[in-house]
Amino acid sequence: MSLVTDRAALARAWHGDPVLRLGSRPGPAVAVGDETLLLMCSNDYLGLAGDPRLAAAAAEAAHDWGTGAGASSRVSGATELHARLEARLAQLKGCEDAVLFSSGYLANLGTIAALTTEGDVVVSDELNHASIVDGCRLSGATIAVYPHGDAPACRRHVIAARRRGAGVLIVTDSVFSMDGDLAPLAELVEIADAHDASLMVDEAHATGVLGGGRGALAALGFEGRAEVVMGTCSKALGAAGGFVAGSTGLCRFLRLRARPYVFDTAQPAPVSAAVLAALDVIASEPWRAERACHNARRLAAGLDRAGWRVAEPDAAVVALVVGGASAAVAVSDRARAHGVLAPPILPPAVAAGTARIRLCPTALHSDADIDSAVAALGTPHEMSP
Ligand SMILES: Cc1ncc(COP(=O)(O)O)c(C=O)c1O
Repeated sequence: MSLVTDRAALARAWHGDPVLRLGSRPGPAVAVGDETLLLMCSNDYLGLAGDPRLAAAAAEAAHDWGTGAGASSRVSGATELHARLEARLAQLKGCEDAVLFSSGYLANLGTIAALTTEGDVVVSDELNHASIVDGCRLSGATIAVYPHGDAPACRRHVIAARRRGAGVLIVTDSVFSMDGDLAPLAELVEIADAHDASLMVDEAHATGVLGGGRGALAALGFEGRAEVVMGTCSKALGAAGGFVAGSTGLCRFLRLRARPYVFDTAQPAPVSAAVLAALDVIASEPWRAERACHNARRLAAGLDRAGWRVAEPDAAVVALVVGGASAAVAVSDRARAHGVLAPPILPPAVAAGTARIRLCPTALHSDADIDSAVAALGTPHEMSP
C-alpha cells in the first residue's frame, strides 16, 4: 500500500521535525536555539552567503527591480540584470552563453530531459547527484550507470550505445558532493571526443572553489571541452539559482525546450544581483577559495591523525565515512555536544554501510576552528562499542 493511501503510515513516518532551524545568518558559527555552533556542513564554501556586499547588492536590486520575477523567463520574468548575470557566468566558464534556472536542481533536471529522449543513452556515474538521476529518469532515455569514477566502464557503455547508433550523453559531477573527490575528467573528455558523445559536467561543488573560481574543468585545463557545463549559484556563490553554460546554439535550445526554463518562475532579481556581487568578490579575493581548500586539507589531516580514514579532499568537501547509520549519528551527536554542527548523512542519501559526516569548512573558518572541529568529532576508538 502506498503512503498516499495509508495515512497512518504517513503520520508515523513523519513524527517530529526532520528539519534543523538556524536562528542566525550563515557564517562560520550559527545560532541553533540557545546554542552557538561552528557550522561545518554548509556549501557556502567561500563564506559569501552572509557577506554584506551581497546583501547590499540584493537590497538595491529589490528596490530597483522588485522582489519577485512574476513569470518565467520566457514570459516576462527575465530582466537586463538576468542577461548581465548570464553573460558573466558564460565568461566565468569560458563559454559563448549561459542560461539561468531558478535552481541547480532544475538546471540538471531540465537540461538532461531536454537534450535526451527515448532511444538515447545517458551514461552516468553511480554517485551523480539526485538532480542528475531525476533528469535521466524524466528524459525517457536508457540510463547506463557506471561504477564511481570508472572511466573504462564508462567507455564500454559509450561504445556499446554508439554501436547501436544511439545518441550518448555522458554526465558527471566534477567534484562529488558526498565524497569530495574529482571525476576522471581527462578520460571523460577523451571518451566523448573519441566516440562522438556529448559530455555534461556538473560543477556545483567546483564553481568558485577550483580553477580560480572557474571550476574543475578549468583547473585541469579542459575549459571548453565539455559541451554542457552546469553550475549552481547556491553554494560558493552564496545565493541561489542554477545555470548551464555552453554554445550559443545549446543555450538557445534550452531557452526553447528546457521545461523548468519555460514553466518555472525566473530567479528573483535580488538573487541575480547577489550572484553578480559574488562574482566580483571571487575575482578580487582569490584567498577565499585557497582558504576553503586549505581548511579542508587541514581538517582531513587532523581527522587522519585522530585515527579516522579520510581521503585527501580534491576541493572543499571532506567525507568522514563512519559506516553504520547509528554510529554516524553518534559521531554527529558528539560533535554537537562539543559545539560543532555536522549532521550525519545516512542511507538512502548514501549507500548502506557508508553513513558519514559530510564536512565543509568555509573560507571564514580559522585554523583554531578547524582544530576544534577535529577535537569535537572525537576518535573512532571512542566511538566503538
Ligand atoms: C552536484 C550537485 N548538483 C546539483 C545540485 C542542486 O543545486 P541547487 O541546490 O542549487 O538546486 C546539488 C545540490 O546539492 C549538487 O550537490
